Amino acid sequence: MLTKTVNIAVLVSGSGTNLQAILDAQKSGIIKNGHVCLVISNNKSAYALERAKNAGVECAVFEKNAEFEQNIISCLESHGIDLIVLAGFMCILSRDFTSRYPDRIINVHPSLIPSFCGKGFYGIHVHEAALERGVKLTGATVHFVNEIPDGGRIIAQKAVKVRDNDTPETLQRRVMTQAEWIILPRAVEQISKEIMEAKS
Ligand code: GAR
Repeated sequence: MLTKTVNIAVLVSGSGTNLQAILDAQKSGIIKNGHVCLVISNNKSAYALERAKNAGVECAVFEKNAEFEQNIISCLESHGIDLIVLAGFMCILSRDFTSRYPDRIINVHPSLIPSFCGKGFYGIHVHEAALERGVKLTGATVHFVNEIPDGGRIIAQKAVKVRDNDTPETLQRRVMTQAEWIILPRAVEQISKEIMEAKS
């Protein structure tokens, strides 16, 4: 039987503002070819889990032990997940994991890849590095996930101007509001639509 929309799992570790942007976009109709049916976290204290519960979305938490990836895979399979969205998920997935889902995992990264990306560049550290380097433009990227950290094909990017008086925190917030929360939901809809079209 054909499912009516794409089953989406969002993987999170922290505050979950990007998850919230996806849930809001689903509510407002920006995302119509997919729906979030599962949120997975490696951190049981992640505020993202509260956001999921508030939206009535099922949650699962897995400890980072030897079975971590296998536990995630079993959970994704039991929920019939078609698309995996990494939204502030602070774990690097192995080649074994990523090769199971070619073009089915996407990630949001808070810089214009290939700047300030790869191992060690995550969260606030990305913005610290951008300010340290003195770039005048930064932004966000949504890309497919493969075995190279932040190395998969780029789906969308949006630039954000750096201000002279920016701190890592003010820049992080502006990159989120002006770029991440806009391009991530749009990319989720675009890829969901492509998956639906490929199914029909
Ligand atoms: C976001 O800025 C996201 O792009 C970044 O962490 C933040 C999570 O915020 N992700 C990475 O750095 C991954 N390399 P959120 O939990 O509020 O969405």
